[in-house]
Parts: sequence; structure tokens; C-alpha cells
Amino acid sequence: MPPQPAQFLVTGGAGFIGSNFVRHLVEHTDAHVTVLDKLTYAGDRTTLADLPPGRVELVEGDIADAALVDRLVADLGDDGVLVHYAAESHNDNSLSDPSPFVQTNLVGTYTLLEAARRHGTRLHHISTDEVYGDLELDDPARFTESTPYNPSSPYSSTKAGSDLLVRAWVRSFGVRATISNCSNNYGPWQHVEKFIPRQITNLVDGVRPRLYGAGANVRDWIHADDHSSAVLAIIERGRIGETYLIGADGEHSNLDVVRLLLRLMGRDEDDYDLVTDRAGHDMRYAIDSTKLRRELGWEPRYTSFEEGLASTVAWYREHEDWWRPHKEQTEAKYAKAGQ
Ligand code: NAD
Ligand code: TYD
Repeated sequence: MPPQPAQFLVTGGAGFIGSNFVRHLVEHTDAHVTVLDKLTYAGDRTTLADLPPGRVELVEGDIADAALVDRLVADLGDDGVLVHYAAESHNDNSLSDPSPFVQTNLVGTYTLLEAARRHGTRLHHISTDEVYGDLELDDPARFTESTPYNPSSPYSSTKAGSDLLVRAWVRSFGVRATISNCSNNYGPWQHVEKFIPRQITNLVDGVRPRLYGAGANVRDWIHADDHSSAVLAIIERGRIGETYLIGADGEHSNLDVVRLLLRLMGRDEDDYDLVTDRAGHDMRYAIDSTKLRRELGWEPRYTSFEEGLASTVAWYREHEDWWRPHKEQTEAKYAKAGQ
């Protein structure tokens, strides 16, 4: 086994998946973790509040701030790793205002790459399966590492652009980077704007879940804990310059997810509303994670979506103080869009 890195710099570590990875590092390594996070509407200091201050330090700042990024990357030292989660991450927001997506996802990633290049730093870039566009419902194919890029939205196109920047910096400048493209995550600490937490917190409030279109769109769900274990496996054992797809064989239609949530929360399975569809709404995502499993021996721990969802429902019931401050404003935004 290669030695474990002693220092991590995690961008976006106060958000949903980045904070899960920070917790994973605290539990499974002895490393010190610095989080660089702008604390946008999607980042929350309290998400990291229970972690030991000697192990985790939060720096509030922008990944596009070249001077700050240069200092933090220099501080990482020779055996440190930069793990890049920070992004504008919500498709619906990218349709109403693409500009922060271009700035953070493209300019921010470029800024990190330049710092990694100057200091010879190992970088892992977090991306999404949405860079591949979408699949038809009846297509037997799933995305693999060789599927051509074909993004649909301002969100997915800026993520695709960030992946291509990383690939170019590997090839042209020898930056030691890996990339992972993961499917839809669920679990604790996810912002209430996203599909699953939105419906859970609606149900807590006695409001009916909201399905876009006919609810037929399919997403491939993975628990955020499984995403984190896959990322650490890639950092420890992945080949430099390679891309790994991360997925847990969790395809479900949005309608099936809503029905399951209604059942888990003791409501009639038909108790939902169909609302205005998302513009350009991708139909289906599906990941073939054979390369990750064969090459690195990774396996997901959450093999029952129903059990993973039930524990997520329990978490949202127990952590109303965390999500409540964001709920009203989020719903006001959706109401304006007829959703
Ligand atoms: P999130 O919106 O919950 O968190 C993003 C974090 O980045 C927030 O803490 C925010 O404050 C921070 N941030 C935003 N702009 C910044 C900037 N300019 N400088 C520093 N920090 C900034 O997002 P998430 O769902 O946790 O996604 C994290 C990463 O994982 C993203 O790169 C996303 O593309 C990718 N991803 C997400 C999913 C998913 O299902 N949510 C699936 C695959 C990949
Ligand atoms: P989302 O969580 O926004 O993730 P992504 O767009 O990255 O897949 O949405 C997941 C799916 O749920 C997507 O098909 C859009 C749909 N959706 C709804 O049906 N209702 C909602 O209220 C939201 C937010 C999303």
C-alpha cells in the first residue's frame, strides 16, 4: 500500500458531498484537513461544527482567488493532496443564472490547476456523470469512461469544461491529477433545493412532493458515504491521468423515489403533485463502474436503496435545526418557476 497523504486541502468541504468526504477522512485516516469554502448559499459552517478542530480547519474563501489558493496549495507540502469538490451544483439554478457556474466551475478550476502546476501538487477533481448527457429510458447502454461528452445544461457543460481543463493540464503540463464522475448522491447534509431532501422536508411540513413532468426521468442513486470511499480509493491507488466512473447500480425513476418516500413517511403513495418540467430535462443517467471495481477493488456499502433512504429520512427528521433556515427561501424560488 502507498503511504497515506498526511495533508488534504478539500475545496467545497462545507457542502453536501465535500463535508461527507471530510468526515470520511477524519474517520478513516490520520490526515489533517483544510477546507477551502466560499460559504455560498449551499455551504454551511455548522455542517463541520462537530468535527475535531485539531483535525479540520475551515478557511472561508473563493477558489478563484489566485493568491489565497496559491498560499493554501503551497502549505500542503510535497505529500499533500488537493481534492476539488467546490462547484455551483444545481441544474435549476444554472437555468435561471448561469454566470456563477462559469465563474466557479471553470475559472475556479483553472485557478486551482495553475496552483497545482506551480507547486507540483497531486489533485483529484470531482465531477458528475451529467457531462455525458442523457440516455433513453430503454437504452441498454450505461455511461463508461469512453462515452463521449455531450452535456445539456449550463451546470453540466461547465462541469464538462472543468474536466477538460484537468485533462489538458495533465497532458500539457504533467499535473498529477485524477478525475471521478459520480452519479446522483443522496444522504445527510444535502441542501433542501435538491430532489430527495426537498420531498422529505415537504412531507415533514405536510406538503405534497413535487415531481417534474411525469416523473419518468431516471437517476442512478448512490449514498454519499459510498462516493467518499471511492474517492479515497482513487487517491490512494488510482493511476495518474485516469478517469474513474463512480456508481452503485441504483437506477430509479423519480416517481418510484417519491412513492417510496411517501410509504416510508406513512403517507398514501399517490399523494404527490406533477409540476412544470425542467427545461432541457435529461431523461436518464446510468453508470457502469466496472473499471473502479476491477482495478481498485471498490464496492459500495449501501446496497439497499430503501434502507439508505429510510436512514436519510430519519436524519432529516432529527436535524430540522440544520435545514429549516433554508426551506422557505428555497420554496419561494421554486414557486416563482411554477415548481
Ligand atoms: P453543494 O452545492 O452542496 O456544495 C458545494 C460547496 O462548494 C458549497 O459548500 C459552496 O459553498 C462551495 N463553493 C461554491 N462556490 C465556491 C467557490 N467559488 N469557492 C469556494 N467554495 C465554493 O454541492 P455537492 O452536491 O456537494 O457537490 C459537490 C461536488 O460534487 C460538485 O463538484 C458536483 O459537481 C459534484 N457532484 C455532485 C453530485 C450530486 O448528486 N450532488 C453528483 C456527482 C458529482
Ligand atoms: P436534482 O436533485 O436537481 O439532481 P440532478 O438534476 O442533478 O439529477 O434532481 C433529480 C431529479 O429529480 C431530476 O430528474 C429532476 C427531478 N426533480 C423533481 O422531479 N422535483 C423536484 O422538486 C426537484 C428539485 C427535482
